[in-house]
Amino acid sequence: MSIILTGDRPTGPLHLGHYIGSLKNRVDLQHTHKQYILIADNQALTDNMSNTQKVRENILEVAKDYLAAGIDPLKSTICVQSQIPAIAEMTLLYMNMVTVARLERNPTIRDEIKARNFGRDIPAGFMCYPVAQAADITAFKASLVPVGEDQAPLIEQTNEVIKKINRQCNKDFLPEVTALIPSIGRLPSLDGKSKMSKSLGNTITLFSTPDEIKKSVNLMFTDPEHIKVSDPGKVEGNVVFTYLDAFDTNKEELELLKEHYRQGGLGDSIIKKRLIEILQETIAPMRDTRNRLSNEHDYVMSILKYGTEKAVVVTNETLSELKSNLGLFSF
Ligand code: TRP
Repeated sequence: MSIILTGDRPTGPLHLGHYIGSLKNRVDLQHTHKQYILIADNQALTDNMSNTQKVRENILEVAKDYLAAGIDPLKSTICVQSQIPAIAEMTLLYMNMVTVARLERNPTIRDEIKARNFGRDIPAGFMCYPVAQAADITAFKASLVPVGEDQAPLIEQTNEVIKKINRQCNKDFLPEVTALIPSIGRLPSLDGKSKMSKSLGNTITLFSTPDEIKKSVNLMFTDPEHIKVSDPGKVEGNVVFTYLDAFDTNKEELELLKEHYRQGGLGDSIIKKRLIEILQETIAPMRDTRNRLSNEHDYVMSILKYGTEKAVVVTNETLSELKSNLGLFSF
């Protein structure tokens, strides 16, 4: 049975982009796979070291988002990265298997450096986080990683590390990793200009109120040339249709709607109304669970402790195998 490892940085509430990009896959996969979900607080610190409180507080928030989305703590192991020492030790070893030039070429890192306006002042930990992420994945001997498409270059780099290790160990010690990327791609921001992002503040969270949902959908860009209802409209690049593609399960009706929109005669308000209804239905149960958990600090903490204890055992095992396979010193 293949093992799944995936994770999120605890820097803010999860949103519909996470839901479509990965959470939904995780909820389905937990029934058929051994799944570990890592709250990557150390990774979050790579660009939040001056804001430790934000990272600390969001660990519990992200855990609540998982539970609200339908992650079952008895089926999936939810754990906290900073409490798993083997990951840190593996990162230290892997650092010697990746060149600075290779890190600088990683397209995800390049994009993120630009987005964060680091200039030349890139924290070394940030530059190297793909190495730490390779440690996250391999510490659990995972072979499947459900992530959004922006993470594909990180998985590629993880596989390069895995190949190097296996070559040096002279056996297939670590399985190669496949990224499980949803076909829908990235969920755009409301104006369609970027991805939905915590840091850009243009998100619909898993606990948005009915009013917030309505407001967000009404702000969404459609086709700027679809001015009169009778004008033919564009479906491609139309944010409302991109969201309908992601969330509307009645594909036949959706196709008819697209046809109608293309021909003209279908107003933006009708497609927005449909999307609002669907998002209300999708978010309501998650918001309810989220609200129920808002005062359950101890319960959520106990889930994290339980999961992390299991993760410590598994990752310590991998680390000691790794060290012995590489012929490293130990007492
Ligand atoms: N880099 C991921 C993100 O920003 C989070 C993450 C950390 C992760 N460790 C991981 C994802 C391991 C997959 C596997 O969303």
